[in-house]
Amino acid sequence: MPENADRFRAARIAGFTESVIREMTRLALRHGAVNLAQGFPDFPAPDAVKEAAARAIAADRNQYAVTWGAEPLRRAIAGSYRRFYGMEVDADAEVTVVCGSTEGMIASLLATTDPDDEVVLFEPFYENYGPDTDLCSARRRYVKLHPPDWSFDLKELRAAFSQKTKAIILNNPHNPTGKVFTADELMQISGLCLEFGALCITDEIYEHITYGDAMHVPMAALPWMRDRTVTVSSASKTYSVTGWRVGWVVAPPEITASIRKVHDFLTVGAPAPLQYAAAEALALPDSYFEQLKSDYAARRRILMEALQKAGLHCTAPQGAYYVMADIRPAGFADGGGLCRTMVERIRVAAVPGSSFFEDQAAGAPWIRFCFCKKYETLEEAGRLLVEGLRAM
Ligand SMILES: Cc1ncc(COP(=O)(O)O)c(C=O)c1O
Repeated sequence: MPENADRFRAARIAGFTESVIREMTRLALRHGAVNLAQGFPDFPAPDAVKEAAARAIAADRNQYAVTWGAEPLRRAIAGSYRRFYGMEVDADAEVTVVCGSTEGMIASLLATTDPDDEVVLFEPFYENYGPDTDLCSARRRYVKLHPPDWSFDLKELRAAFSQKTKAIILNNPHNPTGKVFTADELMQISGLCLEFGALCITDEIYEHITYGDAMHVPMAALPWMRDRTVTVSSASKTYSVTGWRVGWVVAPPEITASIRKVHDFLTVGAPAPLQYAAAEALALPDSYFEQLKSDYAARRRILMEALQKAGLHCTAPQGAYYVMADIRPAGFADGGGLCRTMVERIRVAAVPGSSFFEDQAAGAPWIRFCFCKKYETLEEAGRLLVEGLRAM
């Protein structure tokens, strides 16, 4: 190891490991496997959205936008909170456009937490929240979501809160479980936020991807949570443009002012022409959002049927585009080992459940599949899984 390797490695990143999701993507490429690991679509983005981007570039929207976001996009974001949730959002004082939810989350945490503040997290959790809190030197307190319905126990949640709690990170609809938190659950979480003076930082990137009767209720729509909620969302999933890096944070004016300061120094701004295109995307007619939901419901059905046929156990996600499969009924116990064997021998990539757990033993019997793929990709993966897992 070169002499400087330790000297120049900051302590705050000492615990970082390579993202297992991206590692599985690399293995999928190496083995020519179908990639159901990383949550990006293999189908085209909507034509209207792509044309809007091309028009914005041709119209020379190519220089820095205002650091907290081009005005038409901030207005479109405020408009969409009114349209979908009946919420009044001030586009000038409460919206910050950022480089995806990824930046939205880290900018929000950096702006609101101090070293040693505690942050409550539901486990399993989207893997970025670990490094996000580490970069802020905040301490994580985990609360288990219990399978099969991934519900939480209010007593356990209460026990995670203390006078040191600065915030709870919520992800709703939830990656990796597909859980959509009910209004009752949001009330319980909000009650603890009020009691302990904590903030709710909520990642609602899958807000438009829900199934059946499940309905997305933004935490900020609870009137008493409006002044203590930071809502993070993005164009990535709703418009199938994960590479655009356009997201937003909606928060009360004083918190927005802090987030804008961090954002300005982190990235200056999200890609300007794509901000103008995202403004047009947000204004797509209701039929777009209905179609999005019904297409994902069909994809969910294809994957669920195949996983069940392959002998894995899974409950249907209520939102987002992932299925957590329990591998024990098929005779396996170690999700990490199974994923590595599967990508090589069956040529389907999934993610070991342990990537989403601090408690590695709790995550071991799970693997996560994504279904943001063409029908034919999912059918092919399903065929390979049914044949391959039965033969193992
Ligand atoms: C829960 C969650 N938050 C954030 C992201 C990343 O979002 P973005 O592309 O907007 O940075 C993802 C991507 O998979 C996600 O699942």
